[in-house]
Amino acid sequence: MKKILVSTGGGDCPGLNAVIRGIFKAARKSKEWEVWGCMEALNGLDADPPEIVKLTQKRTAGIHVKGGTILKTSNTANPLAYPVVQKDGSIKRVNRIPELAKKVKKLGFDALINIGGDGSQTISQALYENGLNVVGVPKTIDNDLSATDLTFGFTTAVQIASDCFDKLVTTAESHHRVMIMEVMGRDAGWIALHTAVAGGAEICLMPEIPYDIDKIVKRIRKRFNKRKGFVNIVIAEGAKPLGGKVVGRAAATAKDEHLKLGGVCNALRYELEQHPDMPKVQVRSTILGHIQRGGTPMAFDRILATSMGVKAFELVAAGDFGKMVSFQSNELTSVPIKEAIAEYNFVSKDHYLVHVARSIGIAFGD
Ligand code: F6P
Repeated sequence: MKKILVSTGGGDCPGLNAVIRGIFKAARKSKEWEVWGCMEALNGLDADPPEIVKLTQKRTAGIHVKGGTILKTSNTANPLAYPVVQKDGSIKRVNRIPELAKKVKKLGFDALINIGGDGSQTISQALYENGLNVVGVPKTIDNDLSATDLTFGFTTAVQIASDCFDKLVTTAESHHRVMIMEVMGRDAGWIALHTAVAGGAEICLMPEIPYDIDKIVKRIRKRFNKRKGFVNIVIAEGAKPLGGKVVGRAAATAKDEHLKLGGVCNALRYELEQHPDMPKVQVRSTILGHIQRGGTPMAFDRILATSMGVKAFELVAAGDFGKMVSFQSNELTSVPIKEAIAEYNFVSKDHYLVHVARSIGIAFGD
């Protein structure tokens, strides 16, 4: 039997388990491959003995409906820049890719399927260039990978955000308030844009379109007659004012390189409350945070994730390595991982949904 190792890296996302199950079922049917899972992204390779588990019918049965990942995940300890504490206490970043590629081969694996976002796929490409047979599966609720029309998890995240938005609309209406809801979206505003259109927001703020506070206040004024009226705003965590910065704080440990975004809705609330032209109404803010990443994947995401798992196995079986599974124009296909990580999927100002949003009166603060 030939052996595949599967890992899930980066932030979790509804649909990861459906991919794992898809790979397992397709491989079992081939009768030529067995599938193993590496625990906590590739960190499982560092344990002694390595934390790897053989996937079985029992371990994978019914997991497609569950959120999270049975293999656990991690978005710390990037092997391309692994932090090693030096004698003087300083941190040196080392490239552990050659070492990890060797470990995977030494454990007898013929291929690795790495499920993850742009960071994980950059690791996939580096492992591939170090001689490992790698196939990538794209994952992100932010939908910010350019080589695929959609990633699983995104639709579920938008549904969760839209459900929460609907709840905030009724309370905004009852109290004549301005409600600001912060959604995920570090560099790309896809969740914010889709939620704004689905929910009927008055204002949508995204990383791609820095906002002008005066324009936001102008839009709010339009909705209030004396103190009567209400406004619902969706803001992506990575949104920023014109000439301003994102709101976040540095990660607590050296193993985590990412700025922890969060709180821009509170900064906006403060700006609005201080603005001289703001109607004298109450403003409230809500951060959805990781709620958007948890729980049961929607049917669409289960289907997309299962399909991507099957396709990933087929690429392995065909010996077509260095590729990432992709969903384009309603077809499953694959692209070189190198191409997939070359560009980011930002919301462009002329995207059809931005046009739709503007046409129904949603303001972007520009
Ligand atoms: O990459 C997806 C994402 O959801 C971002 O939108 C967010 O900034 C980040 O993950 C948060 O990740 P964590 O809190 O797990 O480090």
